[in-house]
Amino acid sequence: MAESETKQAQMDRRDFTKGAAALGMAAAAVSSGPLVRKAKGADQVIKYAMIGPGSRGRRLLERHLVHMEHGECVALCDIYQKNLDRALKVFDGKPAAYTDYNELLQDDSIEAVFITVPLFLHYPVMKAALEAGKHVFCEKSLVFTPEEVHGLRALHEAHPDQIIQVGLQRRYSKLYQRAKDLIDSGAIGEVTHIQAQWHRNTNWRRKAAAEFEDQFNWRLYRKYSGGLCAELMSHQVDVADWILDQHPKSVMGVGGLDYWKDGRDIYDNIQLVFEYPGGQKLQYSSIMTNRHIAGRRVPGDGCRETILGTDGAIELTLIPYGDGMLYPDVMKVKMEDQAKQKDEGENWVAGATVGMDTAEQGDGFPIDPEAVDPSQVSFIEKEIFFAKTWAYHKGILRPEEDVDPEYAELSSFLKDVATGARPRADIDVGLQDSVAVMLANLAMDEQRKVHFAEIEQMGQEGVELTSVGAPSRGD
Ligand SMILES: NC(=O)c1ccc[n+]([C@@H]2O[C@H](COP(=O)([O-])OP(=O)(O)OC[C@H]3O[C@@H](n4cnc5c(N)ncnc54)[C@H](O)[C@@H]3O)[C@@H](O)[C@H]2O)c1
Repeated sequence: MAESETKQAQMDRRDFTKGAAALGMAAAAVSSGPLVRKAKGADQVIKYAMIGPGSRGRRLLERHLVHMEHGECVALCDIYQKNLDRALKVFDGKPAAYTDYNELLQDDSIEAVFITVPLFLHYPVMKAALEAGKHVFCEKSLVFTPEEVHGLRALHEAHPDQIIQVGLQRRYSKLYQRAKDLIDSGAIGEVTHIQAQWHRNTNWRRKAAAEFEDQFNWRLYRKYSGGLCAELMSHQVDVADWILDQHPKSVMGVGGLDYWKDGRDIYDNIQLVFEYPGGQKLQYSSIMTNRHIAGRRVPGDGCRETILGTDGAIELTLIPYGDGMLYPDVMKVKMEDQAKQKDEGENWVAGATVGMDTAEQGDGFPIDPEAVDPSQVSFIEKEIFFAKTWAYHKGILRPEEDVDPEYAELSSFLKDVATGARPRADIDVGLQDSVAVMLANLAMDEQRKVHFAEIEQMGQEGVELTSVGAPSRGD
């Protein structure tokens, strides 16, 4: 073997071992996670309804809920008959059908509701559901206005035993949970920056007769929608909050309606910087004119979160399926080695050569959501784990989650209703996420830096509160 090949092989092995060690370290962190409360009535079948089974709702019904034995769909409600009929078909027409959600909510047999109406209706439907004694799963973004932030907190205080879960499915992804464990165990050093993007090349427009324009294309208009911030960024700012265990203290940004000038009034491209109390920054971009991602391993939307730490980076996406990579910063190791050699008076490698060498090492390690802690398993299992990790690294196999995060979030909600456990994506997660959406839009509208503490003063007039309940912010 030529000298350079030997060196390359050694680097490969060293990086592989380092990556595998980091992966093993994180597996240990996973196994020592918080105890799951013993389920009392976990097998209880929960009777539920869905309000607004349009595009999202029907996906949740068809792909996931219909297959769950611990839930029974007893009622469906939609103002649009075609969508109501399509949803009924999923259950062979068995659920009761409504066009007025207030009537549906009078059915005392319904314990929980899934709310999948457009954003501007989340709060009124949620309010009616909570007041009717139902547990609530509501799609993101949880609420639309500052008034609703305070209003929902007050409602929760008045109905503390009813569960409120928000549809932020990344919180239920084993891949994301594992990435979080990796980061918490120090695999990429201290996290200083996060970059996230959701780039598409599409106009978001649905074909609609004039009388249905607002109803079908609600996403395109500010009176119903939070635009790209609510529809896409909400998922990713939540990932940043979760990874950093903090909430932003300020946001600034630039938004424009520069390409899809078809009568809509939401931005079609947004660029934002969120600042966290620890000094970390989330740099965010969403555009609708190009979906390219440099080095993308899988097809699909240009959607990704990159977490940058002092010793490496982690890249994550759920679109079109879960994919996570850990990139140890080999350049940093090499430079440290070089500095040491220099101290010893033996610096033979020029900076430029180091760059060339290390660039070849940058292919990273796929993150296995199903990884085991090598120190806790049998010899055979350990060998299988390392073999699988090697195969993932070589691109021969792709690590996969055994449960779809959407299935997991819905199944978990029904179980939490049965047991009274607090959801991972609870009301606090949902409200903090909604505040980020609102304030990001405000920062772009008013072309200024918006402080998250401002939410406490916003939207307080005319809201009946049991207490002033702005979500706790990081500053
Ligand atoms: N978590 C995710 O990844 C994800 C993905 C897509 C959408 N969503 C969210 O899901 C929600 C719905 O989005 P969508 O694309 O399904 O919208 P949609 O327009 O396809 O569906 C909304 C449905 O609500 C119905 N509706 C409207 N007003 C109603 C009322 N008063 N009573 C009963 N039904 C009513 C509509 O007729 C329609 O069938 C949004 O908040 C969106 O952000 C989340």
